Amino acid sequence: MNEHQETHDFDRPYWERHWQQARRNGPGPAPNPYLLRETGALKPGTALDAGCGEGGEARWLAEHGWDVTAADISAEVLARAGRVPSSVDWVQADLTDWTPGRQFDLVMTHYAHPSIPQLAFYDRIAEWVAPGGTLLIVGHLHGHHPAEATATAANITARLAVAKWAIVTADEQARTVTAPDGRSVSLHDVVVRATRHQ
Ligand SMILES: C[S@@+](CC[C@H](N)C(=O)[O-])C[C@H]1O[C@@H](n2cnc3c(N)ncnc32)[C@H](O)[C@@H]1O
Repeated sequence: MNEHQETHDFDRPYWERHWQQARRNGPGPAPNPYLLRETGALKPGTALDAGCGEGGEARWLAEHGWDVTAADISAEVLARAGRVPSSVDWVQADLTDWTPGRQFDLVMTHYAHPSIPQLAFYDRIAEWVAPGGTLLIVGHLHGHHPAEATATAANITARLAVAKWAIVTADEQARTVTAPDGRSVSLHDVVVRATRHQ
């Protein structure tokens, strides 16, 4: 069975195990390039990073004037994220049942794949975007990860009703990154940015 055919529960034990095995020293990876491309021209406000992992994207936003809440299901990875000084408010929460109780000017998620269907997760976090605010989804492109953890630009944008959302970006692209062990890894990504009407 290859990597793309394996099935996982993507529940909390899975993610705690994942992060225990992925221990590393230092601040973790740099923020992904889509964050810079998609949010660089936005006026800073409040932001939620859903499934923040080691927090590279959340810290980058905070350094650029945003008031950032970053949530993850894994206590292990949040402990690691919190060791790097920043103004980010780290929250340990299962985003399939926790709700923030408020809305944000920007809600973003980068490669988070929880135990519920991927598109249902995106529907859920989209509700937390304030009128006039932005939803940024960066995910694994269908065909390049376990199927249940993937999406396409078309099936994400199909869920964003035109009466409520303006689609700004709907992209599928590949890039190469260097893994912690020095290997080159190809990533196939889907990037969707949408603005919620006032
Ligand atoms: C592949 S990692 C990506 C981390 C980071 N956003 C990045 O781009 O490097 C997916 C993250 O989603 C988190 N996650 C998965 N299910 C979650 C859930 N139900 N609630 C909150 N976080 C979750 C995992 O713990 C993990 O940190």
